[in-house]
Amino acid sequence: MDNYMKLEIAAISKNEGFARSAVAAFALELNPSLTELSDVKTAVSEAVTNSVVHAYKHKDDERKIVIECHTERAESGGVLHIQITDFGVGILDIDKAITPFYTTLAGEERSGMGFTIMQTFMDEFSVESEGGKGTVVRMQKRITGNAAPTYAECERERKEVHA
Ligand SMILES: Nc1ncnc2c1ncn2[C@@H]1O[C@H](COP(=O)(O)OP(=O)(O)O)[C@@H](O)[C@H]1O
Ligand SMILES: [Mg+2]
Repeated sequence: MDNYMKLEIAAISKNEGFARSAVAAFALELNPSLTELSDVKTAVSEAVTNSVVHAYKHKDDERKIVIECHTERAESGGVLHIQITDFGVGILDIDKAITPFYTTLAGEERSGMGFTIMQTFMDEFSVESEGGKGTVVRMQKRITGNAAPTYAECERERKEVHA
């Protein structure tokens, strides 16, 4: 492990954008491409949305989500590890839950594709859950570290060349 972060947030929908931006910001040191970054944001969005909409069913639940990330650096880029935990109702049948188009909230415009999207956009994906205890989603993304340099980096290089 080279770097890590841990973030605890309220499981409410307005934190979904914050959560995915926070993970994206953390990932930046691995120099991800825009596509890699957008894949990570999409997957985090789906996992956090699930904890917001599915995990907490009781009014007096302490609605929280814990997001933990760490990086493993390679010569170029590395691997971003993400773990998203809630303490809600849990998932009784995980195989069924991760089946494409399976949803328990069909009447509320849920596509049933959240887990499929996480699997597709990330390199590793697993779910662990216990009824009444909560759910842990773990994902990994390989970051190539070949992102094009930013404008500021190009300018700095240009100045160095002409110095
Ligand atoms: N964090 C969670 N806590 C409890 N149940 C969950 C959680 N995440 C997913 N589920 C269950 O798995 C199903 C499939 O999730 P997903 O593939 O994201 O589809 P959708 O969210 O559109 O229903 C959900 O309908 C729900 O029943
Ligand atoms: Mg979902």
